[in-house]
Parts: sequence; C-alpha cells; structure tokens
Amino acid sequence: MKNNKILVLKGDGVGPEIIDSALEVLNKISQKSGKIFHLIFGDIGGVAIDKHGHPFPEETEQKLQDVSAVLLGAVGGPKWDNIDPAIRPEKGLLALRKALGVYANLRPCRIYPGLIDNSPLKPEYLKNVDFVIIRELVGGIYFGKRDTFIANGLRTAFDEERYDEMEIKRIAVYAFETAMGRSKKLTLVDKANVLDSSKLWREVVGEIAEDYPEVKLEYLYVDNAAMQLIRQPSSFDVILTNNIFGDILSDEASQIAGSIGLLPSASLGANIGLYEPVHGSAPDIAGQNIVNPLATILSLAMLLRYSFGLQNEAEQIEQAVDKVLADGYRTKDLASDDFLGTFEITDEVIKNL
Ligand code: IPM
Ligand code: MG
Repeated sequence: MKNNKILVLKGDGVGPEIIDSALEVLNKISQKSGKIFHLIFGDIGGVAIDKHGHPFPEETEQKLQDVSAVLLGAVGGPKWDNIDPAIRPEKGLLALRKALGVYANLRPCRIYPGLIDNSPLKPEYLKNVDFVIIRELVGGIYFGKRDTFIANGLRTAFDEERYDEMEIKRIAVYAFETAMGRSKKLTLVDKANVLDSSKLWREVVGEIAEDYPEVKLEYLYVDNAAMQLIRQPSSFDVILTNNIFGDILSDEASQIAGSIGLLPSASLGANIGLYEPVHGSAPDIAGQNIVNPLATILSLAMLLRYSFGLQNEAEQIEQAVDKVLADGYRTKDLASDDFLGTFEITDEVIKNL
C-alpha cells in the first residue's frame, strides 16, 4: 500500500550534504502543497559498516517494510577500500537494489541551454539531445557467480554475466512502454557479436517488439554505442541495456550534459522506488560545501513523480533547477570561479519554487 513515508539513506562522502539539500527542497514543496511526507532515516554503505558491521544491515532492511520510496545519497570511500570485498560499501547498495527488486533504472540525459559551454562536445552536436538510458539493475555480472582462486599456479578470477528470459522480458516491456510515451525509438545496446547473453537479449527484445509495432527498434553493439553517443547524441531516444553497459554509458552520458553532478536516476519496477544521483560519494570534496546537489534534487523530483504521482510538484522542481541554471548560477563542477556553494545553490532553487 502507498503511504507517505520515505526512507532516507544519506550514506558516505558527499551523501549527507546532497541529501540535506534535497530535503530542504522537499520541505519547501510540503509547505507549498500542504502535502506531508514522513521521513525515516537509516544507514547504508560505509557508515553502516562502522555502526552495524554490515553495509546493508538488518535494521535498514526492516525499514523498507513500511515506506513508499527510498532517497539515497551515495556510498563508499577510501576508508573502506581494504575491507573484505564481501562487505564493501558498494555491496550494500547492490543488496538494497536487489532487496527492493528495482530492475528498471532510468537515467535521463538532457542538455540545459545555459550549460552548452560545459559540455566537451561542440554546440552543434548538442542540439535536440534528450534521451534516457534504461539500465537493467538487479541482474547480470553485478550479481552473477564470482570467484578468485589459484588455477595452474596462477591467480585467477571470474565474474559471470547471466540473464534469463524473464529478467530480459520485464525490462524490455518497461523500455517499450517508455518509448511509446516518447518519440517511439528504442536502441538495444549489447555485444551480441561476442556474448551469448547479448544474443538472448536480442532474441527476447525482438519478440517483445512484435507487441509494439509503432516503436522503431535498433540494435547497436556497445562499442559502437559509446562512439555514437559522442558522435551523434541526438540520434538516441530510449537506450535499453544490461547492468554493466548501463553503468558505463551513463557516466559517458553525464559528460555530454556537462557534469555528472546533474544526472538523476530512478530505479523502478517494484512497489518501492529507489532514487539516487548517478554520481558517487566523491570523498575528496565531501564536507566542503562544494558538491553539486542538483542531481539529487532532480532525483527527488523523480521520486515525487514516480512514487507519489505528484507530476506538478516534480515539474516545479525541474523548472526551478532550469531557472537557476538559466540565471547563470553555477556550482564548482560547472565553473572554476564565481560559483555557489551547495547550500547557496539549494537556496536559489528554493527561491524559484
Ligand atoms: C552507479 C554506481 C554503482 C554501480 C556503484 C557505486 C556500485 O556506479 O550507480 O552507477 O555501479 O551501479
Ligand atoms: Mg556508475
């Protein structure tokens, strides 16, 4: 059942700062709309290892029982680099995604007119760039068998990329439905010239395509897709891909947009949605009031839209962010001098609400 509860997991590094910014924005939205949200806080990642001995502790998993959405900052940092790999901070994030069953990770990428100069691409390549990467999030090599051992006297390791047709089908349906609501073009990114798992993706996605005759389906090998994203980013609308390729391509996409500090994400497909920025915990800039909070603020907008159906409130936040950027306000990732701090740019967003 839907309730008004949100589990907030700040995590590590810049996590607490970006989440605090998003919560200030949520507070303003509450004041304006009269909608009350009940926040529950929990630990994940390194901070959870320190407090509970596990990156996704029992205490946090319990709290999922009773919420409609999870808002997450970021996990990881050098402090936990030499820890047992089975309990690295990142494993906590993966366990959370798996526990929720959020198989469809949406990572939209669009260009803000005011930020054209921040993109390493020439302006003419940026016209009409507006696409979404739909990344499979709870399967594949991230969750396959893995092992490290000695074979023939040599240190050896493997990680297994494995998908069954059910896992591919459900995300394919999600992607086709998304494409139907956009410009009806879907690109499946894979490595079907080499990998059996990719061949299965092509087969299953091709079958689902029969139910969506209006959607133009294209296939691209991932190496070519990485090139086309730079060469002709406006040719994409919906990109469907597996967990690992989606991870890699979404970081590439963030540079087209100008900064990874701008890209939000929503992880959907289950009762509870998970919302987090695409970027990581950036421990090198944590605690200095310089991190860009906009990706997390935009993730909050996605939370209001997808978990609570609050389309208007989501758009208000997105428009407020647009306005702040159009007015020339910048964070440090976007301007080497004359930039605002994390709290200050958050205030500008709030002023526009
Ligand atoms: C992301 C991140 C995570 C991932 C890491 C932190 C495990 O890079 O959300 O893109 O690889 O999924
Ligand atoms: Mg990533």
